[in-house]
Amino acid sequence: MNFVISLFVIVTVIHITPVAIYYLSMRRKAQKGPWNLSLDEDYSPTVTLIVAAYNEANTILNKIRNITELDYPADKLDVIIVDSASTDGTPRITEEYLQNNKPPFKTFLMEENRREGKAKALNHALQQASGSIVATSDADCLWTRGSLRNALKYLSDDSIAAVCGQEVLLNPKDSSATRTESQHRDFFNLIRLGESKTHSTIAFEGALALYKRKLLQRFDEDCDDSGSALNLVQQGYRTILVPDAFFLNPFPSKWSVKISKKTRRAQHLVGLWWKCLKLAIRRKLKLDPWISAANVFLYLINPFLFALFLGTIILVLITYPFLLLLLLLLPFIAIVPKMRDSLILYLTNHLFLLYAIFVESSGRKQVIWKK
Ligand code: GDD
Ligand code: MN
Repeated sequence: MNFVISLFVIVTVIHITPVAIYYLSMRRKAQKGPWNLSLDEDYSPTVTLIVAAYNEANTILNKIRNITELDYPADKLDVIIVDSASTDGTPRITEEYLQNNKPPFKTFLMEENRREGKAKALNHALQQASGSIVATSDADCLWTRGSLRNALKYLSDDSIAAVCGQEVLLNPKDSSATRTESQHRDFFNLIRLGESKTHSTIAFEGALALYKRKLLQRFDEDCDDSGSALNLVQQGYRTILVPDAFFLNPFPSKWSVKISKKTRRAQHLVGLWWKCLKLAIRRKLKLDPWISAANVFLYLINPFLFALFLGTIILVLITYPFLLLLLLLLPFIAIVPKMRDSLILYLTNHLFLLYAIFVESSGRKQVIWKK
């Protein structure tokens, strides 16, 4: 076979096969695998729920009302809202509301003098957290009535140190930005569920995350919620995504907003797996070796294979110009919305990761973001 074609075939195979195999094996585990946990459905420990808020005047009251509706005894729940010098009146609005509408649970508004990022704010609040479980949520997401109870029961098993819930997009059909996000969610939630049944997933989201207080010294300030999960795995515990605790989020319909959100999240994940790789090299990583290897490949190696893959496609087209006729197929792909979205998802996800790797290697990670 000609060199160019051989190169193309080799790059395609190593770019696509590992991801396909990992996805299929994790999907199988997610759907059929056992949890190997002993759960107490009535586990009802004391919980401190921390909501970090920066410029959330439009959402914070809804959030407090939403917490009031949780199916959980009010005497076992207390809430800390931690504001980092919002400029839109968030603390004033919150204070006023709390004075006029006493919620059934204890609520404490904590005000920082300046904004140093969400993780730092969570750490300030953590110093005041007295519950045996510490939960985090975002001001702009909502929980269902059963979210807390359903997530808590998994913490009744001694091997589990932290759990996180699954996002439900409120507007999956709004635009191509939300449709692709919804596809992305379906894909990654299955992988994370499979990883959780195998041992642990450390791709955590702070919008619904619960930690055992005695095991959580600090929230990680480098890699966000996922970094906190990694620290617990390193202590010998499991951290899992659970199938029956949900948080609801409206997702930005505009690509411009989506891009800044996704590149930020990609930076956290690239930083996380870079940290894991360094630990693995020193033989100190306690995560399952297959999960670690697959994610290091997915986040740190495959984005470069993606670039190489695009490069070899160009090389093939230059060598065999008649193959340009294949481009005539593109309009057909574009007609089938699912295929078009998958293609956009594939391209953008890899671009976000390449950008994140570039940012990570230049040491300019985002700990404060525009609201
Ligand atoms: N106190 C405080 N200080 N809160 C902050 C700050 C800050 O500097 N920055 C953001 N927050 C709050 C927001 O008000 C919101 O309640 C929450 O942190 C999440 O921020 P969003 O701006 O809504 O970000 P997102 O929707 O992309 O959130 C997702 O990604 C983040 C990491 O990139 C979630 O998974 C977050 O939990 C995650 O931290
Ligand atoms: Mn948000």
